[in-house]
Amino acid sequence: MCGIVGYAGDRACEKILVTGLKNLEYRGYDSAGIAVFEGDKIKTVKAKGEIDKGLVPRLDAEGPLRALAGIGHTRWATHGEPSDINAHPIGNARITIVHNGIIENYRKIKEFLISKGYSFESQTDTETVAKLLDYNYNGDPIETIAMTAAQLEGAYSLGIIFREHKNKIFAVRKESPLVVGKGRGEMFIASDITAILEYTNQYFLPEAGEIAEIDKNGVTFYDIHKNVIEKELQTAEWDKTAAQKGGYEHFMLKEIHEQPVALKNTLSPRIDEQGIPSFDECGLTDEMLRSYKNIYVVGCGSAMHAGMVGKYVIEEMARTPVIVDIASEFRYRNPLITKDDLMIVISQSGETADTLAALKYGNEIGADTLAAVNVAGSHIDREAKMSMKTLAGPEISVCSTKAYMVQCAFMYMFALRLSYARGKIDLAKCREYTDKLLHIPDLIQICIDRKAQYQRVASKLMNASSLLYIGRGLDYALSMEGSLKLKEISYIHSESYAGGELKHGTISLIDEDMPVIAVATQTRLFPKTAANVEEVKSRGAKVIVVCRDSAVVHDEITDYIIRLPETDDILMPLVAAVPLQMLAYYTALDRQCSIDKPRNLAKSVTVE
Ligand code: F6R
Repeated sequence: MCGIVGYAGDRACEKILVTGLKNLEYRGYDSAGIAVFEGDKIKTVKAKGEIDKGLVPRLDAEGPLRALAGIGHTRWATHGEPSDINAHPIGNARITIVHNGIIENYRKIKEFLISKGYSFESQTDTETVAKLLDYNYNGDPIETIAMTAAQLEGAYSLGIIFREHKNKIFAVRKESPLVVGKGRGEMFIASDITAILEYTNQYFLPEAGEIAEIDKNGVTFYDIHKNVIEKELQTAEWDKTAAQKGGYEHFMLKEIHEQPVALKNTLSPRIDEQGIPSFDECGLTDEMLRSYKNIYVVGCGSAMHAGMVGKYVIEEMARTPVIVDIASEFRYRNPLITKDDLMIVISQSGETADTLAALKYGNEIGADTLAAVNVAGSHIDREAKMSMKTLAGPEISVCSTKAYMVQCAFMYMFALRLSYARGKIDLAKCREYTDKLLHIPDLIQICIDRKAQYQRVASKLMNASSLLYIGRGLDYALSMEGSLKLKEISYIHSESYAGGELKHGTISLIDEDMPVIAVATQTRLFPKTAANVEEVKSRGAKVIVVCRDSAVVHDEITDYIIRLPETDDILMPLVAAVPLQMLAYYTALDRQCSIDKPRNLAKSVTVE
């Protein structure tokens, strides 16, 4: 949460910083600001609100700044409301900083600094860091930063400028993400490589505690003892068009449309010469797969929902127990995981604080840990004992679509290999399922092309204040994701329920104002879900049934039907995810919501 950028080079940096911030707005958009070297001074401009509505008009009013180096920030408020004062950069005439993360001991530091005569104007934890740097400053930026970092507890990445070190930027991180980008005669810092992809795809990844000193000619990294460290230059494989809207009205719509390609990219390179999924690239062997007692799957939000789909598939095919946990619950509930278990952590960003903490716990216990992450080089990617990249490309919309899809694909590949390794399915059967899995992108394309049916239903949902998703088995696992999509971007309250659970309380909510979306793709369970549909229909609910092309649904029990192309029951969640995403999208569009940047949210949740 929060995005930081920095630039040092020969170009006027104002526009570059603002562009970088716009690319990072998915990380937070409560307020934004930049601080640059103007003459012998540090000039800070910042404003509450989204960049285009707050910072940009304020910069326009200032006129061109013509500075060659500076830092910038887009905020997701943790300490203190969104306001001009609490916006970053924060500092004084001598030292100014931008900060992503949370300083846990900020109250103690603040008390100490007040006792030394400092006063505070913002409600942020960041101001304590800026003032602590000022207190510690001895003319040597590296020593000052090292001394200050040693006094900070919590998670942070910091971009820092010192008035006396003109056109240089300094950076340090612990837990929160940071890259140092290398261009030709210009250098960058950013929370995420996508922010600077239009300028460079070459970057360094500072480790926790390392300090970067940057000017237009390059970067020097130091450890906390001021020793110079050599770091390897990395190259991002994503190109700049991947992080642009490409003619779509919203990133979410673009990313929904990218799902067939994202799936192909994720699946194809992992199919071995036998024609089945392989985990060789991350060192996970069949022998290891045979050895695990339990499989734990941990993630947050949509990533956890992909884990739920995985649970149903793995338990059905591989007959191996799977425990799916919300990362924030797992880390604090003393879980029963042992060194004989495998822990799978799922994360698009690879930076989610709770998922990372859960992973560290699994590592400490001695369990094998396997990450499915979309961002190479992210924390979770580096921390896990084994890691496989989902290859969705950058996901910009806060609401996850293509990343969820490839996380599910990862779970299917895992389930197939596990089932094969454990002798639950033979090679021929495994190959047959793999072929069907590889055919899913075509079915997804068919779903995308049927958008008229989602638009029609969305126009009927747009005035609902609350609705219910129901399903059984895999349909239930998927309906959790459908419900999250809808509430997240349309702000319509929704819940997902296992169909059989309705009678145990929730059915009392049903009346003509509560639409019900019944996901009914599982052939064996279809009659059971149909019975639930009858029950809610007879209590006045408007019912939307999401079912296969071949399903026989009686007109009198449904108001609208969304049809899906056919595949095996077990693979249907991959297909049925698309209508649920598009239903959420068009409902939010009809309600004129901020689709890519829903209120109160940020894409990368780096605080717990
Ligand atoms: C919902 C959504 C979130 C994320 C969750 C985990 O649309 O995007 O629920 O799935 O915050 O994020 P990652 O996958 O980055 O760990």
